[in-house]
Amino acid sequence: MIFRQLFDSTSGTYTYLIASRHGGEALIIDPVLDRVDRYIQLVRELDLRLVKAVDTHLHADHITGLGALRDRTHCVTVMGERSNVDVVSMRLAEGDKLTIEGVALDVLYTPGHTDDSYSFLMQDRVFTGDTLLIRGTGRTDFQNGNPYAQYESIFNKLLRLPDETMVFPAHDYKGETVSTIGEEKLFNPRLQVKSVDEYVELMNNLKLPNPKLMDVAVPANMHIGLAQEEIARRGWSLSACEAMALKGCADVVFVDLRERAEREKHGVIPGSLHAPYCDLATHIGSGGMLHELALTTGKRIVFYCAFGERSAMAVQAAQDAGIASAMHVAGGIDAWKRSDGPLVR
Ligand SMILES: [Fe+2]
Repeated sequence: MIFRQLFDSTSGTYTYLIASRHGGEALIIDPVLDRVDRYIQLVRELDLRLVKAVDTHLHADHITGLGALRDRTHCVTVMGERSNVDVVSMRLAEGDKLTIEGVALDVLYTPGHTDDSYSFLMQDRVFTGDTLLIRGTGRTDFQNGNPYAQYESIFNKLLRLPDETMVFPAHDYKGETVSTIGEEKLFNPRLQVKSVDEYVELMNNLKLPNPKLMDVAVPANMHIGLAQEEIARRGWSLSACEAMALKGCADVVFVDLRERAEREKHGVIPGSLHAPYCDLATHIGSGGMLHELALTTGKRIVFYCAFGERSAMAVQAAQDAGIASAMHVAGGIDAWKRSDGPLVR
């Protein structure tokens, strides 16, 4: 297991880089925009391939590195389904798994600090975002924060994990790096309360100033979707309705880039092929399934994914690989569903 805890001293943010092996896939949790060069350098130094960049919630104190990492490494951006962000490649909910090669994290919905706060559990450790901090808890006074919800998330979810579970938060301002659930139960001053009402009273009287960057960070973090104008301008983009009109055409093949769990949860365009985005390079390269399909049979490839981001990146990559007919469904399955497109499970 490769595990790195990285620190942004300006915002006091911890960022985590995880992979199962050298030479394998990696994911990064809560990257900071100003540190993206360092992350990319470290990924290269450790001989990793960054495939997912994840935020635990929409941050108010720093600008996320998700968009920049996606643009520079073509990784998949991931946030929770409740996050008020324009576009991410993949959205997760309680009970889902966040996976890369050799690693699977359980997704826990832990609202309270914000209404889009998620924690990620990886065997002996949990990434708690700003829900549970070391000897503290995330403030609940903005971004639809709610101390009642936070009490529930902490006492009825996180503190029910085994005592020895390591706690890795998104922030620390005092130089602490890691704690455990058992330690926090005993020594976290915010958790030494007798009732939810006592906790709410405590949280409602913190009187903290707003984060310095809040007015900049929140709007920036709400608009991180991939710029797709160029893809559309080149005629490589189909609306869901235009794509529906092509369904059944003998020379058109729909290609689903999502992961198996997303397909099972949200359904599949009938008759489509499955080629997960993480394997795209193999499929569109010389001798690959999609390369052969397009070039030897003359089929037109129409990529789709969850929200249109992976498919937009796939179109560009396929065009670069010589598959001139490649297009994608703008807005992905989300747009397809809203246009009442047929789905099978
Ligand atoms: Fe936060």
